[in-house]
Amino acid sequence: MLELTARQIAEAADAALRRDAHDPATFPAAVAIDSRRAGDGALFVGIPGERVDGGAFAAEVLAAGAWGVLVRPEHADAALSADRGAVLTHEDPVAALGALARAWRHRLGATVVGITGSVGKTSTKDLLRAIVGPHRRTVATEGNLNTEIGLPLTVLGAPAGTEVLILEMAMRGAGQIAELARIAEPDVGVITNIAPVHVELLGSIEAIAAAKAELLHDLRPGGTAIVPADERLLDPHLPQGVEVVAVGADPGEVPADLQLAGEVPTTVRRNLPAAVAAARAIGVEPSGPIVPEISAMRGQRLHLPGDIVVVVDCYNANPMSTSAALDDLASSAAGRRVAVLGDMLELGPDERRYHAELGAHARDRGVELLVAVGPLSRHTGTGFGQGVQWVPDAEAAARLVPTLLEPGDTVLLKASRGIGLERVAEALRAGSR
Ligand SMILES: Nc1ncnc2c1ncn2[C@@H]1O[C@H](COP(=O)(O)OP(=O)(O)OP(=O)(O)O)[C@@H](O)[C@H]1O
Ligand SMILES: [Mg+2]
Repeated sequence: MLELTARQIAEAADAALRRDAHDPATFPAAVAIDSRRAGDGALFVGIPGERVDGGAFAAEVLAAGAWGVLVRPEHADAALSADRGAVLTHEDPVAALGALARAWRHRLGATVVGITGSVGKTSTKDLLRAIVGPHRRTVATEGNLNTEIGLPLTVLGAPAGTEVLILEMAMRGAGQIAELARIAEPDVGVITNIAPVHVELLGSIEAIAAAKAELLHDLRPGGTAIVPADERLLDPHLPQGVEVVAVGADPGEVPADLQLAGEVPTTVRRNLPAAVAAARAIGVEPSGPIVPEISAMRGQRLHLPGDIVVVVDCYNANPMSTSAALDDLASSAAGRRVAVLGDMLELGPDERRYHAELGAHARDRGVELLVAVGPLSRHTGTGFGQGVQWVPDAEAAARLVPTLLEPGDTVLLKASRGIGLERVAEALRAGSR
Protein backbone atom coordinates (compact mmCIF):
# COMPACT_ATOMS: atom_id res chain seq x y z
CA MET A 1 0.00 0.00 0.00
CA LEU A 2 1.29 3.42 -0.98
CA GLU A 3 -0.28 5.62 1.66
CA LEU A 4 -0.70 8.70 -0.50
CA THR A 5 -3.91 10.12 -1.96
CA ALA A 6 -4.23 11.10 -5.61
CA ARG A 7 -3.80 14.72 -4.61
CA GLN A 8 -0.61 13.97 -2.66
CA ILE A 9 0.72 11.86 -5.53
CA ALA A 10 0.09 14.67 -8.01
CA GLU A 11 1.92 17.09 -5.76
CA ALA A 12 4.87 14.78 -5.10
CA ALA A 13 5.28 13.83 -8.76
CA ASP A 14 4.56 17.32 -10.06
CA ALA A 15 1.81 15.76 -12.18
CA ALA A 16 -1.54 17.19 -13.28
CA LEU A 17 -4.51 15.64 -11.50
CA ARG A 18 -7.07 15.32 -14.28
CA ARG A 19 -9.53 13.27 -12.27
CA ASP A 20 -9.47 12.30 -8.61
CA ALA A 21 -9.92 8.76 -7.38
CA HIS A 22 -13.48 7.55 -7.05
CA ASP A 23 -13.08 7.99 -3.30
CA PRO A 24 -10.49 10.77 -2.79
CA ALA A 25 -9.47 9.33 0.57
CA THR A 26 -8.22 6.02 -0.88
CA PHE A 27 -4.64 5.00 -1.59
CA PRO A 28 -3.24 2.81 -4.36
CA ALA A 29 -2.58 -0.77 -3.29
CA ALA A 30 0.68 -0.79 -5.26
CA VAL A 31 2.51 0.92 -8.10
CA ALA A 32 2.90 -1.01 -11.36
CA ILE A 33 4.32 -0.34 -14.81
CA ASP A 34 3.12 -3.63 -16.29
CA SER A 35 -0.48 -3.26 -17.41
CA ARG A 36 -1.09 -6.94 -16.63
CA ARG A 37 -0.29 -6.28 -12.98
CA ALA A 38 -2.11 -3.01 -12.62
CA GLY A 39 -5.58 -4.34 -11.79
CA ASP A 40 -6.52 -4.79 -8.15
CA GLY A 41 -6.28 -1.21 -7.08
CA ALA A 42 -2.79 -0.30 -8.28
CA LEU A 43 -1.52 2.97 -9.63
CA PHE A 44 -0.45 2.21 -13.19
CA VAL A 45 2.42 4.29 -14.54
CA GLY A 46 2.45 4.19 -18.34
CA ILE A 47 6.07 4.38 -19.47
CA PRO A 48 6.95 5.09 -23.09
CA GLY A 49 9.08 2.21 -24.37
CA GLU A 50 10.87 1.61 -27.64
CA ARG A 51 7.92 -0.05 -29.30
CA VAL A 52 4.85 0.74 -27.22
CA ASP A 53 3.90 3.53 -24.88
CA GLY A 54 2.48 1.90 -21.74
CA GLY A 55 0.11 4.85 -21.53
CA ALA A 56 -1.88 3.29 -24.38
CA PHE A 57 -3.22 0.78 -21.83
CA ALA A 58 -4.66 3.46 -19.53
CA ALA A 59 -8.36 2.87 -20.24
CA GLU A 60 -7.90 -0.89 -20.21
CA VAL A 61 -6.20 -0.99 -16.79
CA LEU A 62 -8.79 1.33 -15.26
CA ALA A 63 -11.55 -0.93 -16.57
CA ALA A 64 -9.69 -3.89 -15.08
CA GLY A 65 -9.74 -2.33 -11.60
CA ALA A 66 -6.66 -0.13 -11.35
CA TRP A 67 -6.92 2.60 -8.73
CA GLY A 68 -5.57 5.16 -11.18
CA VAL A 69 -3.11 5.92 -13.93
CA LEU A 70 -0.15 8.25 -14.39
CA VAL A 71 0.44 8.69 -18.12
CA ARG A 72 1.63 11.14 -20.74
CA PRO A 73 -0.92 13.89 -21.48
CA GLU A 74 -1.87 12.47 -24.87
CA HIS A 75 -3.40 9.46 -23.12
CA ALA A 76 -5.59 11.52 -20.79
CA ASP A 77 -8.72 11.48 -22.97
CA ALA A 78 -8.62 7.73 -23.39
CA ALA A 79 -8.08 7.32 -19.64
CA LEU A 80 -10.98 9.66 -18.83
CA SER A 81 -13.22 7.61 -21.11
CA ALA A 82 -13.04 4.82 -18.53
CA ASP A 83 -15.77 5.63 -16.05
CA ARG A 84 -13.67 5.46 -12.89
CA GLY A 85 -10.17 5.84 -11.45
CA ALA A 86 -7.69 8.63 -10.80
CA VAL A 87 -6.05 10.13 -13.90
CA LEU A 88 -2.75 11.95 -13.56
CA THR A 89 -0.57 13.19 -16.38
CA HIS A 90 3.09 14.11 -16.70
CA GLU A 91 5.23 14.72 -19.79
CA ASP A 92 7.88 12.35 -18.47
CA PRO A 93 6.37 9.44 -16.52
CA VAL A 94 9.80 8.05 -15.58
CA ALA A 95 10.77 11.37 -13.97
CA ALA A 96 7.38 11.45 -12.22
CA LEU A 97 7.96 7.93 -10.93
CA GLY A 98 11.33 8.99 -9.52
CA ALA A 99 9.91 12.08 -7.84
CA LEU A 100 7.10 10.04 -6.32
CA ALA A 101 9.61 7.50 -4.99
CA ARG A 102 11.64 10.28 -3.42
CA ALA A 103 8.56 11.62 -1.65
CA TRP A 104 7.73 8.14 -0.37
CA ARG A 105 11.31 7.64 0.78
CA HIS A 106 10.95 10.83 2.88
CA ARG A 107 7.60 9.71 4.28
CA LEU A 108 9.01 6.29 5.24
CA GLY A 109 11.94 7.81 7.05
CA ALA A 110 13.79 4.51 6.54
CA THR A 111 17.56 4.25 6.54
CA VAL A 112 18.67 3.82 2.95
CA VAL A 113 21.69 1.88 1.72
CA GLY A 114 22.69 2.39 -1.92
CA ILE A 115 24.96 -0.20 -3.53
CA THR A 116 26.87 0.32 -6.75
CA GLY A 117 30.14 -0.96 -8.22
CA SER A 118 31.37 -2.86 -11.24
CA VAL A 119 30.88 -6.37 -9.87
CA GLY A 120 29.02 -7.87 -6.93
CA LYS A 121 26.19 -5.39 -6.37
CA THR A 122 23.40 -7.96 -6.33
CA SER A 123 25.36 -10.38 -4.17
CA THR A 124 26.30 -7.66 -1.67
CA LYS A 125 22.64 -6.68 -1.53
CA ASP A 126 21.58 -10.31 -0.99
CA LEU A 127 24.12 -10.72 1.84
CA LEU A 128 23.19 -7.43 3.48
CA ARG A 129 19.50 -8.27 3.36
CA ALA A 130 20.23 -11.60 5.06
CA ILE A 131 22.26 -9.89 7.81
CA VAL A 132 19.88 -7.01 8.49
CA GLY A 133 16.53 -8.70 7.77
CA PRO A 134 16.23 -10.51 11.12
CA HIS A 135 16.79 -7.25 13.03
CA ARG A 136 14.98 -4.55 11.03
CA ARG A 137 11.96 -4.41 8.77
CA THR A 138 13.88 -4.50 5.53
CA VAL A 139 13.01 -4.07 1.87
CA ALA A 140 15.67 -4.70 -0.78
CA THR A 141 15.82 -4.63 -4.55
CA GLU A 142 14.28 -7.80 -5.95
CA GLY A 143 16.56 -9.50 -8.45
CA ASN A 144 18.35 -6.87 -10.47
CA LEU A 145 15.77 -4.03 -10.58
CA ASN A 146 18.51 -1.44 -10.38
CA THR A 147 17.64 1.24 -12.95
CA GLU A 148 15.79 4.56 -12.97
CA ILE A 149 12.60 2.49 -13.23
CA GLY A 150 13.43 -0.50 -11.03
CA LEU A 151 14.80 1.56 -8.15
CA PRO A 152 11.72 3.80 -7.75
CA LEU A 153 9.45 0.75 -8.00
CA THR A 154 11.42 -0.88 -5.18
CA VAL A 155 11.07 2.22 -3.01
CA LEU A 156 7.37 2.55 -3.79
CA GLY A 157 6.84 -1.12 -2.97
CA ALA A 158 8.16 -0.64 0.58
CA PRO A 159 5.27 -0.68 3.06
CA ALA A 160 4.84 1.95 5.78
CA GLY A 161 6.96 0.90 8.74
CA THR A 162 9.93 -0.17 6.60
CA GLU A 163 13.08 0.59 8.58
CA VAL A 164 15.81 -0.22 6.09
CA LEU A 165 15.82 0.07 2.30
CA ILE A 166 18.66 -1.65 0.44
CA LEU A 167 18.88 -0.43 -3.13
CA GLU A 168 21.06 -1.72 -5.95
CA MET A 169 22.09 1.01 -8.36
CA ALA A 170 23.17 0.30 -11.94
CA MET A 171 25.58 2.52 -13.81
CA ARG A 172 25.06 2.71 -17.55
CA GLY A 173 26.61 6.10 -18.11
CA ALA A 174 27.79 9.31 -16.44
CA GLY A 175 25.13 10.97 -14.31
CA GLN A 176 22.98 7.88 -13.87
CA ILE A 177 24.09 7.02 -10.33
CA ALA A 178 23.65 10.68 -9.40
CA GLU A 179 20.08 10.47 -10.66
CA LEU A 180 19.38 7.33 -8.63
CA ALA A 181 21.00 8.89 -5.56
CA ARG A 182 18.78 11.96 -5.87
CA ILE A 183 15.76 9.68 -5.68
CA ALA A 184 17.06 7.43 -2.91
CA GLU A 185 19.05 9.96 -0.83
CA PRO A 186 21.14 7.17 0.69
CA ASP A 187 22.47 7.33 4.24
CA VAL A 188 25.05 4.69 3.40
CA GLY A 189 26.73 4.31 0.02
CA VAL A 190 28.60 1.13 -0.89
CA ILE A 191 30.96 0.91 -3.86
CA THR A 192 31.88 -2.75 -4.23
CA ASN A 193 34.77 -2.25 -6.65
CA ILE A 194 35.92 -0.54 -9.83
CA ALA A 195 36.67 -2.67 -12.87
CA PRO A 196 36.56 -2.44 -16.65
CA VAL A 197 32.85 -3.18 -17.12
CA HIS A 198 30.79 -1.19 -19.65
CA VAL A 199 34.00 0.57 -20.72
CA GLU A 200 32.34 1.20 -24.07
CA LEU A 201 29.96 3.61 -22.40
CA LEU A 202 32.46 5.73 -20.52
CA GLY A 203 35.76 5.37 -22.33
CA SER A 204 38.15 4.85 -19.43
CA ILE A 205 38.48 3.23 -16.04
CA GLU A 206 38.93 6.69 -14.46
CA ALA A 207 35.59 7.74 -15.93
CA ILE A 208 34.02 4.56 -14.54
CA ALA A 209 35.38 5.37 -11.07
CA ALA A 210 34.02 8.92 -11.31
CA ALA A 211 30.60 7.64 -12.35
CA LYS A 212 30.39 5.20 -9.42
CA ALA A 213 31.61 7.89 -7.04
CA GLU A 214 28.56 10.00 -7.84
CA LEU A 215 26.92 7.90 -5.13
CA LEU A 216 29.30 9.29 -2.50
CA HIS A 217 28.58 12.93 -3.24
CA ASP A 218 24.88 12.68 -2.57
CA LEU A 219 25.01 10.85 0.76
CA ARG A 220 23.03 12.41 3.57
CA PRO A 221 25.10 14.47 6.01
CA GLY A 222 26.48 12.19 8.70
CA GLY A 223 26.26 9.22 6.34
CA THR A 224 28.82 6.54 5.64
CA ALA A 225 30.73 5.81 2.44
CA ILE A 226 31.94 2.21 2.16
CA VAL A 227 34.68 1.76 -0.41
CA PRO A 228 37.25 -0.90 -1.29
CA ALA A 229 40.58 -0.39 0.48
CA ASP A 230 43.48 0.36 -1.83
CA GLU A 231 41.29 1.51 -4.70
CA ARG A 232 43.35 4.54 -5.71
CA LEU A 233 40.91 5.34 -8.51
CA LEU A 234 38.41 6.46 -5.87
CA ASP A 235 40.87 8.65 -3.96
CA PRO A 236 40.01 11.85 -5.87
CA HIS A 237 36.33 11.28 -5.14
CA LEU A 238 36.22 10.52 -1.41
CA PRO A 239 33.68 12.91 0.09
CA GLN A 240 33.97 15.32 3.02
CA GLY A 241 31.47 15.35 5.87
CA VAL A 242 30.70 11.63 5.88
CA GLU A 243 32.50 8.74 7.48
CA VAL A 244 34.59 6.75 5.01
CA VAL A 245 35.06 3.04 5.74
CA ALA A 246 37.68 1.21 3.69
CA VAL A 247 36.79 -2.44 3.31
CA GLY A 248 39.27 -5.24 2.84
CA ALA A 249 42.16 -3.77 4.80
CA ASP A 250 41.50 -5.56 8.08
CA PRO A 251 41.06 -9.34 8.05
CA GLY A 252 39.15 -9.12 11.36
CA GLU A 253 36.33 -7.05 9.95
CA VAL A 254 34.00 -10.02 9.51
CA PRO A 255 33.05 -11.38 12.96
CA ALA A 256 34.26 -14.93 13.59
CA ASP A 257 30.82 -16.15 14.65
CA LEU A 258 29.13 -14.99 11.44
CA GLN A 259 28.33 -18.10 9.42
CA LEU A 260 26.73 -18.19 6.03
CA ALA A 261 24.29 -21.08 5.93
CA GLY A 262 23.29 -22.89 2.75
CA GLU A 263 25.24 -22.83 -0.47
CA VAL A 264 26.97 -19.50 -0.99
CA PRO A 265 29.40 -19.46 -3.93
CA THR A 266 32.95 -18.46 -3.08
CA THR A 267 33.11 -15.54 -5.50
CA VAL A 268 30.01 -14.14 -3.84
CA ARG A 269 31.37 -14.66 -0.28
CA ARG A 270 34.03 -12.06 -1.07
CA ASN A 271 31.40 -9.41 -0.76
CA LEU A 272 30.79 -10.21 2.90
CA PRO A 273 33.18 -7.56 4.30
CA ALA A 274 31.28 -4.81 2.47
CA ALA A 275 27.92 -6.17 3.62
CA VAL A 276 29.21 -6.36 7.22
CA ALA A 277 30.47 -2.77 7.04
CA ALA A 278 27.11 -1.59 5.69
CA ALA A 279 25.22 -3.43 8.43
CA ARG A 280 27.40 -1.79 11.08
CA ALA A 281 26.91 1.61 9.50
CA ILE A 282 23.18 1.27 10.13
CA GLY A 283 23.63 -0.02 13.66
CA VAL A 284 23.26 -3.78 13.16
CA GLU A 285 26.10 -5.94 14.50
CA PRO A 286 26.22 -9.06 12.33
CA SER A 287 26.30 -12.36 14.19
CA GLY A 288 25.31 -16.01 14.14
CA PRO A 289 24.15 -18.04 11.18
CA ILE A 290 22.63 -16.08 8.33
CA VAL A 291 20.83 -17.54 5.38
CA PRO A 292 21.31 -15.50 2.22
CA GLU A 293 19.28 -16.21 -0.87
CA ILE A 294 21.82 -15.70 -3.61
CA SER A 295 20.29 -14.82 -6.96
CA ALA A 296 20.56 -17.55 -9.63
CA MET A 297 23.52 -18.15 -11.98
CA ARG A 298 25.99 -16.39 -9.66
CA GLY A 299 28.27 -19.40 -9.21
CA GLN A 300 25.91 -22.06 -7.86
CA ARG A 301 27.25 -25.61 -8.08
CA LEU A 302 25.49 -28.38 -9.89
CA HIS A 303 26.49 -31.91 -8.84
CA LEU A 304 26.27 -34.51 -11.58
CA PRO A 305 26.88 -38.27 -11.54
CA GLY A 306 30.55 -39.28 -11.68
CA ASP A 307 31.51 -36.55 -9.20
CA ILE A 308 31.31 -33.93 -11.91
CA VAL A 309 30.76 -30.45 -10.50
CA VAL A 310 29.46 -27.65 -12.72
CA VAL A 311 29.88 -24.06 -11.52
CA VAL A 312 27.01 -22.17 -13.15
CA ASP A 313 28.26 -18.60 -13.29
CA CYS A 314 26.72 -17.36 -16.52
CA TYR A 315 24.74 -14.38 -15.28
CA ASN A 316 27.46 -12.03 -16.49
CA ALA A 317 31.20 -11.82 -17.08
CA ASN A 318 34.02 -9.33 -17.23
CA PRO A 319 37.77 -9.57 -16.61
CA MET A 320 37.42 -9.07 -12.85
CA SER A 321 34.69 -11.59 -12.15
CA THR A 322 36.04 -14.15 -14.62
CA SER A 323 39.53 -14.15 -13.18
CA ALA A 324 38.01 -14.46 -9.69
CA ALA A 325 35.96 -17.40 -10.91
CA LEU A 326 39.10 -19.04 -12.34
CA ASP A 327 40.92 -18.53 -9.02
CA ASP A 328 37.98 -20.21 -7.34
CA LEU A 329 38.04 -23.09 -9.82
CA ALA A 330 41.73 -23.59 -9.13
CA SER A 331 41.28 -23.67 -5.37
CA SER A 332 38.16 -25.82 -5.27
CA ALA A 333 38.52 -28.44 -8.02
CA ALA A 334 39.32 -31.90 -6.73
CA GLY A 335 40.07 -33.30 -10.20
CA ARG A 336 40.55 -31.89 -13.68
CA ARG A 337 39.89 -28.18 -14.14
CA VAL A 338 37.71 -27.43 -17.12
CA ALA A 339 36.70 -23.90 -18.13
CA VAL A 340 33.97 -23.01 -20.62
CA LEU A 341 34.51 -19.32 -21.19
CA GLY A 342 32.35 -17.22 -23.49
CA ASP A 343 32.71 -13.71 -24.77
CA MET A 344 32.87 -10.82 -22.32
CA LEU A 345 30.90 -8.02 -23.97
CA GLU A 346 31.06 -4.22 -23.82
CA LEU A 347 34.75 -4.05 -22.96
CA GLY A 348 35.63 -1.32 -25.42
CA PRO A 349 38.74 -1.00 -27.62
CA ASP A 350 40.91 -3.27 -25.44
CA GLU A 351 38.49 -6.20 -25.65
CA ARG A 352 40.92 -8.50 -27.47
CA ARG A 353 43.66 -7.92 -24.95
CA TYR A 354 41.28 -8.59 -22.03
CA HIS A 355 40.29 -11.90 -23.60
CA ALA A 356 43.88 -12.93 -24.31
CA GLU A 357 44.94 -12.05 -20.75
CA LEU A 358 42.12 -14.13 -19.41
CA GLY A 359 43.24 -17.11 -21.48
CA ALA A 360 46.74 -16.74 -20.02
CA HIS A 361 45.24 -16.51 -16.52
CA ALA A 362 43.29 -19.74 -17.12
CA ARG A 363 46.55 -21.43 -18.12
CA ASP A 364 48.29 -20.07 -14.97
CA ARG A 365 45.48 -21.40 -12.81
CA GLY A 366 45.98 -24.92 -14.08
CA VAL A 367 43.00 -25.20 -16.38
CA GLU A 368 43.61 -28.32 -18.45
CA LEU A 369 40.78 -28.04 -20.93
CA LEU A 370 39.37 -24.75 -22.22
CA VAL A 371 36.27 -24.47 -24.35
CA ALA A 372 36.18 -20.93 -25.78
CA VAL A 373 32.73 -19.78 -26.92
CA GLY A 374 32.06 -16.92 -29.34
CA PRO A 375 34.02 -14.64 -31.70
CA LEU A 376 36.00 -12.69 -29.09
CA SER A 377 36.87 -15.85 -27.26
CA ARG A 378 39.21 -16.82 -30.09
CA HIS A 379 41.57 -14.43 -28.29
CA THR A 380 41.00 -16.24 -25.00
CA GLY A 381 42.11 -19.36 -26.83
CA THR A 382 45.22 -17.63 -28.17
CA GLY A 383 46.18 -16.50 -24.66
CA PHE A 384 45.62 -20.02 -23.37
CA GLY A 385 47.56 -21.92 -26.05
CA GLN A 386 47.51 -25.76 -26.33
CA GLY A 387 44.35 -27.54 -25.18
CA VAL A 388 41.68 -25.11 -26.34
CA GLN A 389 38.59 -26.02 -28.32
CA TRP A 390 36.77 -23.13 -29.95
CA VAL A 391 33.07 -23.05 -30.82
CA PRO A 392 31.05 -20.19 -32.31
CA ASP A 393 28.15 -20.09 -29.83
CA ALA A 394 26.46 -21.56 -26.76
CA GLU A 395 24.43 -23.95 -28.90
CA ALA A 396 27.60 -25.56 -30.22
CA ALA A 397 29.14 -25.56 -26.74
CA ALA A 398 26.06 -27.36 -25.40
CA ARG A 399 26.68 -30.13 -27.94
CA LEU A 400 30.44 -30.32 -27.43
CA VAL A 401 31.00 -30.01 -23.68
CA PRO A 402 29.04 -33.14 -22.62
CA THR A 403 31.27 -35.24 -24.92
CA LEU A 404 34.46 -33.93 -23.30
CA LEU A 405 33.83 -34.45 -19.61
CA GLU A 406 35.35 -37.15 -17.46
CA PRO A 407 34.44 -38.30 -13.95
CA GLY A 408 35.81 -36.00 -11.27
CA ASP A 409 35.92 -32.88 -13.49
CA THR A 410 35.02 -29.46 -12.15
CA VAL A 411 33.63 -27.27 -14.93
CA LEU A 412 33.30 -23.50 -14.80
CA LEU A 413 30.68 -21.91 -17.09
CA LYS A 414 31.24 -18.18 -17.43
CA ALA A 415 30.24 -15.64 -20.09
CA SER A 416 28.34 -12.43 -20.57
CA ARG A 417 24.57 -12.73 -20.34
CA GLY A 418 24.16 -12.29 -24.08
CA ILE A 419 25.99 -15.57 -24.79
CA GLY A 420 23.39 -17.68 -22.97
CA LEU A 421 25.93 -20.12 -21.60
CA GLU A 422 23.35 -21.64 -19.25
CA ARG A 423 22.41 -23.81 -22.24
CA VAL A 424 25.53 -25.82 -21.51
CA ALA A 425 24.33 -26.39 -17.94
CA GLU A 426 20.95 -27.47 -19.28
CA ALA A 427 22.55 -29.91 -21.71
CA LEU A 428 24.72 -31.39 -18.96
CA ARG A 429 21.76 -31.71 -16.63
CA ALA A 430 19.61 -33.32 -19.29
CA GLY A 431 22.40 -35.71 -20.31
CA SER A 432 22.81 -36.92 -16.74
CA ARG A 433 19.18 -37.96 -16.33
N1 LIG B 1 33.67 -9.30 -5.33
C1 LIG B 1 33.66 -10.02 -6.44
N2 LIG B 1 34.81 -10.27 -7.11
C2 LIG B 1 34.82 -10.98 -8.25
N3 LIG B 1 33.71 -11.49 -8.80
C3 LIG B 1 32.54 -11.29 -8.17
C4 LIG B 1 32.44 -10.55 -6.97
N4 LIG B 1 31.14 -10.50 -6.61
C5 LIG B 1 30.45 -11.18 -7.53
N5 LIG B 1 31.27 -11.65 -8.47
C6 LIG B 1 30.92 -12.38 -9.71
O1 LIG B 1 30.13 -11.53 -10.55
C7 LIG B 1 28.92 -12.19 -10.94
C8 LIG B 1 27.79 -11.19 -10.86
O2 LIG B 1 27.56 -10.86 -9.51
P1 LIG B 1 26.41 -9.85 -9.12
O3 LIG B 1 25.17 -10.22 -9.80
O4 LIG B 1 26.41 -9.76 -7.63
O5 LIG B 1 27.00 -8.50 -9.74
P2 LIG B 1 26.25 -7.16 -10.15
O6 LIG B 1 27.24 -6.08 -9.90
O7 LIG B 1 24.95 -7.07 -9.45
O8 LIG B 1 26.01 -7.36 -11.71
P3 LIG B 1 25.06 -6.45 -12.68
O9 LIG B 1 25.91 -5.29 -13.11
O10 LIG B 1 24.72 -7.37 -13.81
O11 LIG B 1 23.85 -6.05 -11.89
C9 LIG B 1 28.78 -13.39 -9.99
O12 LIG B 1 28.31 -14.49 -10.66
C10 LIG B 1 30.19 -13.64 -9.52
O13 LIG B 1 30.80 -14.51 -10.42
MG1 LIG C 1 23.08 -6.82 -10.26
